[in-house]
Amino acid sequence: MFEEGEHMIESILKRYPKERRFLLAILQDIQRTYNYLPRKALNEVREYLDIPLSSLYSMATFYRALSLKPKGKYVIRVCDGTACHIRGSMNLLEEIKRELSLLPGEITPDGKFSLETVNCLGSCAIAPVMMINERVYGNLKPDMLKEIFSSLGGEENG
Ligand code: FES
Repeated sequence: MFEEGEHMIESILKRYPKERRFLLAILQDIQRTYNYLPRKALNEVREYLDIPLSSLYSMATFYRALSLKPKGKYVIRVCDGTACHIRGSMNLLEEIKRELSLLPGEITPDGKFSLETVNCLGSCAIAPVMMINERVYGNLKPDMLKEIFSSLGGEENG
């Protein structure tokens, strides 16, 4: 997956002078391109900026928007905070497991979906809640999920 887009790293690096202060911007560009920070890409950044790998990793783990693990094109975040838990978030996770064969922390083999659980999305009034990328879905019932997921599949094909 990374090999195919390897030239993308070069084109990202070319946009920036070889200065450490551009590290975050470079990592953000890589994250946007691959949906995570591939190890090979980090090695190239390390060489380009001539900084230790440990500095890269500490920045990559500090910022929530950066991820060392692959994420799907669609990142599903199911809230498992108290309000959502009481109102059935576990049933949503069960349904996602059934529909997409996906457990929290995993990504589908085609790279389309990844799943995370979060503590509170700040929308307790419409619990149970999940987000897919930036979109919030509230008052969810398990039988609503299939349609939501297939609408995203349709978007990709259309
Ligand atoms: S507990 Fe789920 S949105 Fe607050």
